[in-house]
Amino acid sequence: SKRSYHEKVLDHYNNPRNVGSMGKGDNDVGTGLVGAPACGDVMKLQIKVDPNDNTISDVKFKTFGCGSAIASSSYLTELVRGMTLEQAGRIKNTEIAKELCLPPVKLHCSMLAEDAIKSAISNYYTKNPKAKATDLGGTGAAMPEIEIEKVSATA
Ligand code: FES
Repeated sequence: SKRSYHEKVLDHYNNPRNVGSMGKGDNDVGTGLVGAPACGDVMKLQIKVDPNDNTISDVKFKTFGCGSAIASSSYLTELVRGMTLEQAGRIKNTEIAKELCLPPVKLHCSMLAEDAIKSAISNYYTKNPKAKATDLGGTGAAMPEIEIEKVSATA
């Protein structure tokens, strides 16, 4: 049976998955820290990467923000575990918003989660430039940049 928006958001809000931190200085950890200027909410997302196959072996978050932002980041951590960096980098906030049935006014909360995973991946690639070449098949294609502007579009 289909669960309602409130149930899913409240479930992640009341029982957030994978809350915590990892060693920011560790070479196999990528850290993303993003904020939504409109509301002041901040999300930190960290991924631990298995260098053998570029998959995400662990993920932690800390979100100082609204319930929808906390739910979005909690759901995201479940989603990206086991994914390759390339797969995780393609996650769209609309997937998160759809899963949690977020209303339009809360879309920017899910955008914060999309920006956070992209930022974490980007940080990992900065630390491990060779991983990027391998992961992208050596094409040298650029990772999407964080667009903080996007999250400030709605209040
Ligand atoms: Fe700003 Fe949800 S992240 S209100």
